[in-house]
Amino acid sequence: MASQLIVRAVPPFDAPGAAGVLESAARERLDDVELARAWGMEPVPRAAFLAGRLAQRRFAAELLEVPPSDLATAYDCPRCGPGLSHGRPGYTLAGAPAPLLLSLSRSAGWVLLAAVRDPAPGQRLGVDVQDPAGTDFDGFDEVALGPAERRSLRGLAARELMTGRARLWARKEAWLKLCGTGLRVSPDMVQVLDHPGIRDLPSAESGLPAHLAAAAALSGLPERDSRL
Ligand SMILES: CC(C)(COP(=O)(O)OP(=O)(O)OC[C@H]1O[C@@H](n2cnc3c(N)ncnc32)[C@H](O)[C@@H]1OP(=O)(O)O)[C@@H](O)C(=O)NCCC(=O)NCCS
Repeated sequence: MASQLIVRAVPPFDAPGAAGVLESAARERLDDVELARAWGMEPVPRAAFLAGRLAQRRFAAELLEVPPSDLATAYDCPRCGPGLSHGRPGYTLAGAPAPLLLSLSRSAGWVLLAAVRDPAPGQRLGVDVQDPAGTDFDGFDEVALGPAERRSLRGLAARELMTGRARLWARKEAWLKLCGTGLRVSPDMVQVLDHPGIRDLPSAESGLPAHLAAAAALSGLPERDSRL
């Protein structure tokens, strides 16, 4: 997977007046379906949403070696279908699907982007980043983890426990994005210990701060490339 997967971490954009800067960049560079979704959000999630979408468009354009304005938003939601701005991310280029798998995740102000250029037919990608602090609540293990996963965290406490939970949760969300279902599938049903299609992304590879947990899931590779 390492040879095919391209990841990029984008740091928080929190300069003075950041929301206004993002909104005017978005008006210039994003598509109407994206703007319509953004304008329906409260200011804080809107800024995070716009930062992610702007970064993703730049990232995709760079990989495809085209101007960002050549890309048209083409998301695909397994429930609602194509043509909207939610679900599995993607773009079209000159009316045809751009030859790029994409996945995006946001946490603690960071945006994690992942891509595979010229994917094999049927190949799928998912990526996720998690802040361990978000797992610090009673009942997390019962709702989110299967029995073997709970056992793997036995004996851990405090920060180590939260880090262990975040690592498993990132793997699950990466896999659920790959599948396209998201959390409509109960997360405790997705077993991510030793899952051959999922791997953790260390900070040295992702560019994220070391305390954030990140994972990538990639499927549909030819046999010789399927070791993750
Ligand atoms: C996918 C999901 C696990 C994302 O987790 P999250 O912690 O909320 O958010 P993250 O920041 O990690 O990821 C958000 C990104 O996931 C991606 N994503 C969303 N739904 C996706 C899906 N079905 N398949 C693949 N990727 C998806 C998008 O790129 C999204 O970015 P956007 O906000 O710019 O659109 C969660 O939002 C979910 O379960 N969504 C599906 C819910 C659903 O089915 N709703 C029905 C829609 S009608």
